[in-house]
Amino acid sequence: MGEEAELFHHPDRNLALEMVRATEAAAIRAVPWIGKGDKNAADKAAVDAMRVFLSTVDFDGVIVIGEGEKDEAPMLFNGEHVGSGKGPKCDIAVDPIDGTSLTAAGRSHALSVLAVADRGTMLDASSVFYMDKIVTGPEGRGVVDLRKPVGENLRGLAAALGKDIAELRVAVLDRPRHEQLIREIREAGAGTRLILDGDVAGGIIAAQRGTRIDACIGIGGSPEGITTACAVKALGGYMQGRLAPKDDAERARGEAAGLDIDKVMELDDMVAGDNTFFIATGVTDGALVKGVKREGPIIRTESIVLRGRSGTLRRIEAEHLVEKWLDEADR
Ligand code: FBP
Repeated sequence: MGEEAELFHHPDRNLALEMVRATEAAAIRAVPWIGKGDKNAADKAAVDAMRVFLSTVDFDGVIVIGEGEKDEAPMLFNGEHVGSGKGPKCDIAVDPIDGTSLTAAGRSHALSVLAVADRGTMLDASSVFYMDKIVTGPEGRGVVDLRKPVGENLRGLAAALGKDIAELRVAVLDRPRHEQLIREIREAGAGTRLILDGDVAGGIIAAQRGTRIDACIGIGGSPEGITTACAVKALGGYMQGRLAPKDDAERARGEAAGLDIDKVMELDDMVAGDNTFFIATGVTDGALVKGVKREGPIIRTESIVLRGRSGTLRRIEAEHLVEKWLDEADR
């Protein structure tokens, strides 16, 4: 493929910087709904803003990972074409708010998220809602494995990190389904960091070096799993996923969609190739990024942009003018 043709087939480095406008917009539009108890309204505001901004970006995107089937929330639906239609052909994963319940409750750690990869490289796992996941930094590669008992994984990880197992901190979604997992982590001597929601941020923090979390383990959303995989690739971390259908009917739906349900998926099975981008803007304050903050005539946002090819992590702080964003009545 010639250089010019190449440019139009693969997302290029500028695209991620354009895309951050979409997560910033989604985060800003969600703000009026923080703490208002209506997660669908928060999600709708973010979805609508993200859709408008994506339509202004020069790329030919197909949503592989949409959102909204759960709880009949508003959607950027799977298969929807986004972008201007000109430019690189991409697969895109959207999560306008990861942490809709956190947002509605006014809690920390809600994010607006986008992930982008070359067309045809992202796994469409949408027919099975949940995925069992393990995410670590690079030291976990060849050490942890979803087929092994969690205690064995944690002992191996501690050794690879040169830590005592008592120092290991493992993020787990605080759900009844994880009671046994939590018990086993503690019996192995490690500590849990129970998270209310948002295992995308949990996974990213686990994959980064020098953070307070060494691993993120347990069952969360499959779409969030694929999105996390894009970020983990860019960070050089390690992750495995295995679909976790709720019942036989969902297993059958997954199989009909061509998914290998029992396969322990490596990063390349979830997103092939290394040309991934991951973009997130804080909605509420979190460990990964700060949330949207209004200061007089300014709205501040903080975002991270990860680029797989270069392994670059950028933090982008933006100051937006309130007058450009709010309706007259809201100023
Ligand atoms: P939403 O923002 O779509 O509600 O997702 C939040 C989240 O915590 C994800 O981060 C996680 O993967 C999933 O929900 C877990 O699902 P459940 O809340 O059903 O355990």
